Amino acid sequence: MGLTGLKWAVWFMVIATWISPRTATSTNSARTLPTHNFDNYTLALRKALLFFNAQKSGKLPKNNGIPWRGNSGLRDGSQLKDVQGDGLVGGYYDSGENTKFHFPLAYSMTMLSWSLIEYPHKYRAINEYNHVLELIKWGTDYLLLTFDSNATKISKIYSQVGGAYEKSNIPDDITCWERPEDMDYPRPVQTTYAGPELAAEMTAALSSASILFKQNNPTYSIKLIKASESLFAFARDTRKRRPYSRGNPWVDPYYNSTGYFDEYLWGSTWLYLATGNVKYLALATNPGITKNAMGFRWTRKMSVLSWDNKVPSALMLLTRVRLFKAPEYPYEETLIGHHKFIALSMCSYLKPFRLFKWSKGGLIQFNDGGEESLQYVANAAFLANLFADYLNATDSPGWLCGPNFFPIATLREFASSQIDYILGKNPLDLSYVVGYGDKYPNRVHHRAASIPSDGLKYSCKGGYKWRDSTKPNPNTIVGAMVGGPDRFDNFHDDRSASAGPTLAGNAGLVAALVSLTSGGGYGVDKSFLFSNLPPPPIP
Ligand SMILES: *[C@@H]1O[C@H](CO)[C@@H](O)[C@H](O)[C@H]1NC(C)=O
Ligand SMILES: *[C@@H]1O[C@H](CO)[C@@H](O)[C@H](O)[C@H]1NC(C)=O
Ligand SMILES: *[C@@H]1O[C@H](CO)[C@@H](O)[C@H](O)[C@H]1NC(C)=O
Ligand SMILES: *[C@@H]1O[C@H](CO)[C@@H](O)[C@H](O)[C@H]1NC(C)=O
Repeated sequence: MGLTGLKWAVWFMVIATWISPRTATSTNSARTLPTHNFDNYTLALRKALLFFNAQKSGKLPKNNGIPWRGNSGLRDGSQLKDVQGDGLVGGYYDSGENTKFHFPLAYSMTMLSWSLIEYPHKYRAINEYNHVLELIKWGTDYLLLTFDSNATKISKIYSQVGGAYEKSNIPDDITCWERPEDMDYPRPVQTTYAGPELAAEMTAALSSASILFKQNNPTYSIKLIKASESLFAFARDTRKRRPYSRGNPWVDPYYNSTGYFDEYLWGSTWLYLATGNVKYLALATNPGITKNAMGFRWTRKMSVLSWDNKVPSALMLLTRVRLFKAPEYPYEETLIGHHKFIALSMCSYLKPFRLFKWSKGGLIQFNDGGEESLQYVANAAFLANLFADYLNATDSPGWLCGPNFFPIATLREFASSQIDYILGKNPLDLSYVVGYGDKYPNRVHHRAASIPSDGLKYSCKGGYKWRDSTKPNPNTIVGAMVGGPDRFDNFHDDRSASAGPTLAGNAGLVAALVSLTSGGGYGVDKSFLFSNLPPPPIP
């Protein structure tokens, strides 16, 4: 049976007591108002977006803005007989390898769309609205090629192009060090006949994009919605409920999905927002799905948003639905629980509670000192700022962590302190975003950036001399956020050792940065997200 509102309330109280602060209590609102030069967030945002231009695969548009990138992957998927049009040409490379992983790609598009739906005025104020929209369409056009997007019933999804079979020595994306433009080894395609998390994440990506295109490209918007519905039916098919990555050595060493109920929450929430159909709200507030997505009680791990855990993002959106729309029976009870989950998650981000470790230099350690920590930090900064904006928009001055009241400014302070760390306010005075600030990593682990674009072709192993060179990359991959420092605030700018940038990491960074910019004014666009919901009933 499901988790009732009462149970939620009980464990909330238990946990809220348990996490009451061990050190001095709440920070004070008045003196914590941000005092930053907000133009720096805008500057960083413009750069962070350019990373997506640098990751494009396929036939590039004329003004793509990255002089050292050209057409690539033009034969991707050409070995398949049943794909539409040009095969699987297009999309984005995931990172410094030349692989197209559709699961994190779809998630990254959802995050970009979400940020654009919440903050259209901010993107417009800095003249980046159309740029982001173009980046999203580049992703959704590609996702539409990865399954039969005309059919109402689909039987399979292409889940990946390129990559490596770990135990082999054959030329592939791992063993070779080549620019995408020069790839001359086979690009295998992975197909999944099951895969609820992949299909539900693609649902989220296409549904959120459909909201953005409704006004200016209604035909495309409708296509996206139809495709979302067939993807979601695939995701929910009880015969297909096995993780898409399970047992596939091309996938699971890289993006091993640990569950799909979080994507059910996330996909159904977006589908509800895109269609206005309450059957999807019923699913997103179904206590059984909630329970399966997050276990029986709140845990700090559950509050860490990533490409593998969409519980916090889904519940954040549903909390917005509750705060702004207040749906009543039968949705209300679960939504109260969702709201409490978000409140607790925000508490867990605060330093006094010490639910996560913090580095001496002030970076929260969402993965307990593990590698590639910045992606989680950027996501959390976005969620914190978003929650602050939701509260402010509904005239709440703050929220409770157990008996302690915290003002909105505490959330903003968390968000800006973490993003400021990433942008250079840290013990090394190093910006973790390439091309931003005076000092940043310049030996980023990235094939295209590390090999000169000089008209010469370097072979699979011929490229090793660029990988192993101690010199800076010849091409500056502007806007790329690297994996991050270790838990002692140290970082080694070493191409072979340090983790490179990823689509998912940069998508979270973009979202966090736009929420912090001052252009276009404070706050979220209150109605854009709800533009496809039916008007409230006349009393
Ligand atoms: C899907 O429909 C579009 C136009 O409606 C068409 O151009 C395309 O060829 C169709 N694809 C397949 C695989 O039927
Ligand atoms: C992927 O996850 C599954 C289930 O959690 C696990 O059994 C498997 O070993 C994982 N694969 C890798 C390569 O870690
Ligand atoms: C709340 O929103 C108003 C505008 O609606 C804005 O002036 C104010 O600065 C916001 N406060 C915070 C703490 O975000
Ligand atoms: C903004 O960036 C400029 C240039 O990197 C730097 O000099 C300045 O200190 C930054 N401002 C803040 C408030 O961080």
